[in-house]
Amino acid sequence: MATINEIMPSNGEYSYKMMNFESSLASSYRKANGVYYTDLLLSERMLDDLNIRNDSTILDPCCGAGSFIFSAKKKGINNIYGIDLDKNAVSFCLNHIPDISCIQFDSLGNNGKTILNKLQIQEKVDYIIGNPPYSPIDKSTTFTTKDIVFNKKVAESGNNLFVAALIRALEMVKPNGIISYIIPKNFLHISSYGKLRKDLLKQHTIISIVDIGAYFKNVRGEQIILTIQNCLPKDNNNIIIKKLVNTEFVAQTQVPQKYFSNEIILFNSDEDFSIYNKLNSTYQKLTDICLGYIGRGKSKNLNAITGKEIRKFGLKNTTSNLDGNQIFIQNIYSTESGIIAAFAGNLSAGETVTVLTDGNKEMCKFILGILHSRLCNFFLYHYCYNYSKLTMHTDPKYLKKIPLPDTESPLFNKIVQCVEKIEMDEYMSKSWFDNVEVLNKLIYKIYKIKRNESQYIDKEMRFVQSNKWQNNGIF
Ligand SMILES: C[S@@+](CC[C@H](N)C(=O)[O-])C[C@H]1O[C@@H](n2cnc3c(N)ncnc32)[C@H](O)[C@@H]1O
Repeated sequence: MATINEIMPSNGEYSYKMMNFESSLASSYRKANGVYYTDLLLSERMLDDLNIRNDSTILDPCCGAGSFIFSAKKKGINNIYGIDLDKNAVSFCLNHIPDISCIQFDSLGNNGKTILNKLQIQEKVDYIIGNPPYSPIDKSTTFTTKDIVFNKKVAESGNNLFVAALIRALEMVKPNGIISYIIPKNFLHISSYGKLRKDLLKQHTIISIVDIGAYFKNVRGEQIILTIQNCLPKDNNNIIIKKLVNTEFVAQTQVPQKYFSNEIILFNSDEDFSIYNKLNSTYQKLTDICLGYIGRGKSKNLNAITGKEIRKFGLKNTTSNLDGNQIFIQNIYSTESGIIAAFAGNLSAGETVTVLTDGNKEMCKFILGILHSRLCNFFLYHYCYNYSKLTMHTDPKYLKKIPLPDTESPLFNKIVQCVEKIEMDEYMSKSWFDNVEVLNKLIYKIYKIKRNESQYIDKEMRFVQSNKWQNNGIF
């Protein structure tokens, strides 16, 4: 008798057909309903990672063209269920994958019980796996429900289709069952998703989070694979943090689940975790020390400074002898360049600028030095932007978390003087770069960063900072 693998299409054939099917869909429909299919490589890796027994029940409630159910079938799992809103996607799955149950249904608008009934499943399932749609819920979204309680829950947690999918998955998985979903990475730190994130941290066991970066080229942002177990977290549960490296999920470190009460940081090694703890617990935050304004520039004046006019430690086309107490920061942040900011006296700023106002000129220059340091950019990239290599914003939410060292330290004046030297130097001259390096060392010193820690930070930043800053002597 032929084996299941012999009667099924090969991976190559299935991938090809799936791609053709995906590109036949209208792009407006795909965007509104988050229709971006997962390739078989990733769906197989996710299943490998879960070590599923063949007699388990597995469901992908938004199965699309069936990557997960195809991979599950190839693995020999017996009870496979798929649902999708798109009847053509459902036909595609039924035509290509033998012996599965796949139906056309709204698995977000209907509650778990109704969905399981429709699938004719008597009890909840062991595994829910997939890549649910991510799209803000609005008029263009096809999902609808009159369930006020559910709608309220979804709205309170960011009003996105993937939030609805996670909540529905929790309604359909057995106690102790597993949910493994590809979701947007910003779920880990964006405040609008806070309610669901906090609920998961308190009420469910988070098994692992895999950082897969910007895996889906046509989808905005980066993604993670969140794997949770439907049971209360044990006091000693550790979340395993992994990263997709080439085609493997590589474990980076483990962090006690109870360490997080709201935002989740994807530490990438034990050392990384320990540096964060040191910075976070030893120092006050910018928000505690800087009592002035931190936010976007508001001036509509034609002479107002724009983000483009700012360079590191200076303003293009503006004389340096300014008085006042403001720092202007380019609002757009890229890890490759790091913070780009300048002392701006009392000039006015447009909305492409983040303005930071503090006590006096010296204090501003001290903070300016810190903002440009490798340590501070490491902190932002790792702990505030969660290793996102995409462009971010220097919004107050992030800046306020920056730890600030003791402003009474004897190194305070040295840092201010060093910043003033850099301001006087010709931009990006040898002397400018040399002084930036002196500044980096002073900043490590004032934060009491040990040699092995600074080496670690330098190494991490060398990978992500652009050559423009490296070749010229920053490292
Ligand atoms: C990101 S795609 C992923 C599909 C598949 N899980 C994969 O990884 O290839 C999301 C899928 O969700 C489906 N979808 C969107 N809204 C849905 C709803 N309310 N009920 C069921 N499926 C829905 C879309 O049709 C699309 O196929």
